[in-house]
Amino acid sequence: MISLVYISSTVGLLRRDELLSILEKSRENNAKHQVTGLLAYFDGNVMQVLEGPEAGVMEISHKIEKDTRHRNVTVLLTAEIDERHFPDWRMAFVDMNDEKFIENPAFSAFLNEPFTSEKYKNSPSFAMAMLVSFKESLT
Ligand SMILES: Cc1cc2nc3c(=O)[nH]c(=O)nc-3n(C[C@H](O)[C@H](O)[C@H](O)COP(=O)(O)O)c2cc1C
Repeated sequence: MISLVYISSTVGLLRRDELLSILEKSRENNAKHQVTGLLAYFDGNVMQVLEGPEAGVMEISHKIEKDTRHRNVTVLLTAEIDERHFPDWRMAFVDMNDEKFIENPAFSAFLNEPFTSEKYKNSPSFAMAMLVSFKESLT
């Protein structure tokens, strides 16, 4: 299995119904490919992790890359994994604009900077740690 993390910027701010329709489609497609992960949205930027069999992750990531609802898709990390970090989710979702995240001091280190910051590009493991901590906040 592999894990792939990318960042992108949405074209305009996505409305909640647009995000929900992306998620609905994602969950349907990802389940077919045994792909799991988490999509985080914050201030017009996306950070998403996809994990599962290499062929499925690559097929889905190619589709995502071509999607005109976002741009500047930049892969931060691809790695072989033995175990999933997000086994229970077809695609979990966190909207970091939600007050419960913004007001939580545990996330302030992450939310001081946009997902597109060099900090994540230079340290993909920091990005992965952030995504895992988002997941933990959901469970
Ligand atoms: C930010 C973002 C994240 C997305 N994540 C996924 C995803 O995890 N899985 C997926 O199948 N499609 C995802 N999509 C949608 C794909 O780009 C594409 O519209 C969809 O896979 C097309 O599915 P279809 O070929 O079944 O019509 C995402 C789109 C955006 C803009």
